[in-house]
Amino acid sequence: MAKKRIGILTGGGDCPGLNAVIRGVTKTAINEYGMEVIGFYDGFQGLIENRFTFLTFEDVSGILTQGGTILGTSNKANPFEHYIIENGKTITKDVSDETMALYHDLGLDALIAVGGDGTMTIAGMLAEKGANIVGVPKTIDKDLMETDTTFGFDTARWVATEAIDRLHTTAQAHHRVMIVEVMGRNAGWLALESGIAGGGDIILIPELPYDINEVIRVVRQRNRFGKRFSIIVVSEGARPAGGDQVVKKIVEDSPEKIRLGGISHHIANQIEQATNIECRVAQLGHLQRGGTPTPLDRILATQFAVKSVELVVNGEFNKMVALKGNDIVAVPIEKVMGKQKLVPKDSPLIKVAISVGTSFGIQFN
Ligand code: F6P
Repeated sequence: MAKKRIGILTGGGDCPGLNAVIRGVTKTAINEYGMEVIGFYDGFQGLIENRFTFLTFEDVSGILTQGGTILGTSNKANPFEHYIIENGKTITKDVSDETMALYHDLGLDALIAVGGDGTMTIAGMLAEKGANIVGVPKTIDKDLMETDTTFGFDTARWVATEAIDRLHTTAQAHHRVMIVEVMGRNAGWLALESGIAGGGDIILIPELPYDINEVIRVVRQRNRFGKRFSIIVVSEGARPAGGDQVVKKIVEDSPEKIRLGGISHHIANQIEQATNIECRVAQLGHLQRGGTPTPLDRILATQFAVKSVELVVNGEFNKMVALKGNDIVAVPIEKVMGKQKLVPKDSPLIKVAISVGTSFGIQFN
């Protein structure tokens, strides 16, 4: 009998734990089931452009602790909207039929797509065209549906929390307002959880548009009561009630074109003008995505990897592996496609933060 052959790609923004998944998939597939593993370079770009490598045991040895991805990634590649230059003009072309032809030519029994909502959406569309897909949820944003968490989030939360801890020092010493801007796109999980872990005095998330007057009131009140510093943790996607998010950049050839960032500077100016208290900003940016994954992310990534190979072996396709409670399960990929898991307004975490005196820049009734 011919060996089963699986493909793996890592799509979207890099995040800690991707290499742990590549290692887990390759070792399990080779060790446990005698399969072959093909790794596509740069996410779907490699599948479009026929760029791949056969992954061996040696290739994945020693990568568990490494950040990034040995395969490379892309948050632009999309076979359904492939950017090409024709007659000097950039146009998009649907090359999904050609992509599927390569999938079949390579004799793939399945494709394991490791990524966030964008990757799951594209993978789900390839499933509709006949590919046997298994998704593995990654993102520091924790905004994927149908899973309690994604790998990469714990590491980013740890990095952001450590930054908040360190910024407390300067805030206290100089009696300043320190504003820490964290990533997360339209989801406030990273700001909310690192804000709670780091004891942020004010947490601003996209799901709860803030009132700048309330933010200023809380800063002033803390000063009056002898707390001559404040730490504000703001999500890059936060916005004032009735106002807009701050867009840092438009990336035209990316399926998700808007890149957010810069809201912290805006808030700092407003607070300084109103209070005369010095403000400083720290935008954590891609530091949150780099470096070695935490133990939790390494374990979760490995569990997801092993489960994804099991799904291939059992012929359970067009599913995404997921964490539900303590169990690693499989959920239909169509339930994840094109959706985002945001922080619910009645989240128990918001209630907990309020109980310990954290402000969300709004008055709760
Ligand atoms: O989705 C992960 C993420 O890091 C978001 O938190 C952030 O908004 C975005 O990617 C940044 O994208 P890029 O790496 O293209 O700047």
